[in-house]
Amino acid sequence: MEIMQPFKTEVDLQTGVFSPTRDIITRKLSNMATMYADVEAAQALLDSGDDPIIYEVHVTELPEVEGHILHCTTKIYPGKIGDEYFMTKGHYHAQRDQGEVYVGLSGEGYLVMQTESGESSAIAMKPGTAAYVPPYWAHRTINTGSEPFVFFAAWAGEAGHDYGTIERDGFRQLIVEKDGHLQVIDNPKYD
Ligand SMILES: [Fe+2]
Repeated sequence: MEIMQPFKTEVDLQTGVFSPTRDIITRKLSNMATMYADVEAAQALLDSGDDPIIYEVHVTELPEVEGHILHCTTKIYPGKIGDEYFMTKGHYHAQRDQGEVYVGLSGEGYLVMQTESGESSAIAMKPGTAAYVPPYWAHRTINTGSEPFVFFAAWAGEAGHDYGTIERDGFRQLIVEKDGHLQVIDNPKYD
């Protein structure tokens, strides 16, 4: 591996914005409409001409190879599709035996995780929460508040991303608002 020069990034703790600006990934509803439990609500919103930004990721541009520690901030906007809060797509790592660390910076949300052997977990996050995604756990974050939910993440360069398994199967647990209250429910479409 080549010797790389050390560098730093200033992170706005409220917005997650990187300075200097690096790569920014934007996910709109149209990029993930079928991932919401209420597909009809998602489609109705798109049909009305509304395609909200669900989340943005500010990423360091580092080689995705063993030895490097990739890191990013994610800002999930507040909102719901049907009863389900705005969320990230979620993924397994392509290399399943690679974990990840999340740190809440602003707003509030949930980190939902699951393994392919049937375990599930839902952890509430707020500013200052350091949450650990162990190897083998798929992970998705959800904004359960009325302000943007912003967090920092760091993971191994060789981990890679497997979005396809989640796009096909979804998560076992959904974070929804029912009768004005947050609820963690079983996904009726998961089997
Ligand atoms: Fe990850």
